[in-house]
Amino acid sequence: MSTLTLAAPRSTAPGLRDDILVVEGVSKRFGGRIALDAASLEVRRGSITGVIGPNGSGKSTLFNIVAGALPPDGGRVRINGRDTTRHGPAQVCREGVGRTFQISRLFSEMTVLENLVAIAHGKSDVEAVERARELLDFLEIAGLRDKWGSELSYGQRKLVEIARALMLEPTLMLLDEPFAGINPRLQNRIVEHLDALRRNGLTLFFIDHEMRIVLEVCDELYVLAEGRVIARGAPEAVRADPAVAEAYF
Ligand SMILES: Nc1ncnc2c1ncn2[C@@H]1O[C@H](COP(=O)(O)OP(=O)(O)OP(=O)(O)O)[C@@H](O)[C@H]1O
Ligand SMILES: [Mg+2]
Repeated sequence: MSTLTLAAPRSTAPGLRDDILVVEGVSKRFGGRIALDAASLEVRRGSITGVIGPNGSGKSTLFNIVAGALPPDGGRVRINGRDTTRHGPAQVCREGVGRTFQISRLFSEMTVLENLVAIAHGKSDVEAVERARELLDFLEIAGLRDKWGSELSYGQRKLVEIARALMLEPTLMLLDEPFAGINPRLQNRIVEHLDALRRNGLTLFFIDHEMRIVLEVCDELYVLAEGRVIARGAPEAVRADPAVAEAYF
């Protein structure tokens, strides 16, 4: 795997928890339906943090609120200590947050390279192409460079989405089900890449359903059920929690 330059991680005093993201009591309703009910969580800088929960438990809504795509009805979001609760997606992006979507948003009538270059910001075309090539190499998908978005398999799309989100050099990545619907071999490759990104200083916050992956990858795990955080902690401890077993299995 090639090396990749990312923003250097910030250092903090030993023993002091340094959270890149803090969500405090966030609520969201859609009509009569409560999607999030005073949910609170923290994501430690440099960690891989996971969220699991049954279908409809509010996971994507949480990400949409953090990413500025949806305003919460109540509560606060802080990124790097700054209140971003009322920020839109572009402002949150400038705060260093990148994201991938549960349903791919790649342009099908552009090549993979064009998909990446199209979202580059503040870079010359030459720089953008160079960054895109570097990312495709890093994720071992350089061979897909000239394929159309529409030609990609489901798993290839997941990897290209990750590459595209990395174009903007985020310090925090939100990944909505990066492992869903892909074979275990590709899942393992994505795990390796995410781990390499973390070693390069990126913080990763992801949603998934696969207990196997979550147990293997996460430093800290949250469980959402009916819009509430019902458990948090080290993945093994969370799995052993009877409340989780009841809500989740
Ligand atoms: N834009 C919307 N309009 C109306 N209801 C919505 C909207 N977005 C989400 N919901 C509802 O809010 C609840 C939480 O949805 P959300 O997509 O956050 O769940 P999820 O945990 O991501 O589920 P999944 O595992 O299926 O992706 C669900 O009941 C869903 O139907
Ligand atoms: Mg979802």
